[in-house]
Amino acid sequence: MKILILGARGMLGQDLVKVLSAEHELTAWDLAELDITNREDVLGVISKLKPELVINAAAYTAVDKCETEFELAVKINGHAVGYLAEACEAIGATLIHFSTDYVFNGQKEAGYDEDEQKDPINAYGRSKALGEDLIQEKCSKFYICRIAWLYGAGGANFVDTMLKLSKTQDMLKVVDDQIGSPTYTIDVSNKVAEIINNSYQYGIYHIPNDGRVSWYEFASEIFRQAGIDIFLVPVATAEFPRPARRPSFSVLNNNKTSKLPGWKEALARYLKRNPNANPPRRTK
Ligand SMILES: NC(=O)c1ccc[n+]([C@@H]2O[C@H](COP(=O)([O-])OP(=O)(O)OC[C@H]3O[C@@H](n4cnc5c(N)ncnc54)[C@H](OP(=O)(O)O)[C@@H]3O)[C@@H](O)[C@H]2O)c1
Repeated sequence: MKILILGARGMLGQDLVKVLSAEHELTAWDLAELDITNREDVLGVISKLKPELVINAAAYTAVDKCETEFELAVKINGHAVGYLAEACEAIGATLIHFSTDYVFNGQKEAGYDEDEQKDPINAYGRSKALGEDLIQEKCSKFYICRIAWLYGAGGANFVDTMLKLSKTQDMLKVVDDQIGSPTYTIDVSNKVAEIINNSYQYGIYHIPNDGRVSWYEFASEIFRQAGIDIFLVPVATAEFPRPARRPSFSVLNNNKTSKLPGWKEALARYLKRNPNANPPRRTK
């Protein structure tokens, strides 16, 4: 299949390229090749290239910065996604787009189903929710894939941050009252390949790794698997004031497709593949 991947040099984008290049004809672009906030360029370039599928992994992902740069976040995560939807609709292409657990308010301990009402509690979540709405309004062939707590070899992430901090500190405080599903970019990319290859029904999918955990429990497992002895202290979110509020329970229930591997097994594969944990590519 002829596929255009946008945000191809981002954390998820890099693994999408790796996984999909074996079976598909890829054009892999990032900001340097196409600024998705430029509507004219988006419509012009996509109608010229004529991909059968556009996969958008481009986004403004700095959650705290979105609070002060809301306009930019809305431009990239909201309106630009609408331009991609328009461009896909114009040529009959399918759009795969990634969204987030942060479109929900995090008050539902049972987790969130795919058709649940969105109610974001921070600026990033609001900008991503707008992107979802514009796709549904402008495009008939789409997959919105919500993911959460993402990590992968191609970008700054929680696993690498923990391992890096442990090199200089004997004790770490980690938040214990936010629950979610850590998700590995390789597993997301494999699920995307499965969605494409099996022509799943269009719509919203929740594709986190299986299981739920707090950041503290996630950190404990990272150090256990890495064989690092460190004193970890569970703390409340209130002890770590951040510019953006975080949802307390942002578990995404996957009711529409087979479950992805469990989060512990995914972490083991990540650590094995990347035992020394690359230094973060950029800070967020
Ligand atoms: N990271 C997470 O924990 C997480 C959780 C849930 C959902 N998601 C979603 O998963 C997707 C992938 O996230 P990620 O963490 O892989 O993102 P990422 O590493 O931040 O990569 C995003 C890429 O998009 C590029 N980009 C930014 N603005 C652009 C523009 N105007 N035009 C074209 N490209 C642009 C960035 O380039 P520059 O680096 O040059 O800006 C970067 O290469 C996003 O939709 C994100 O919202 C992420």
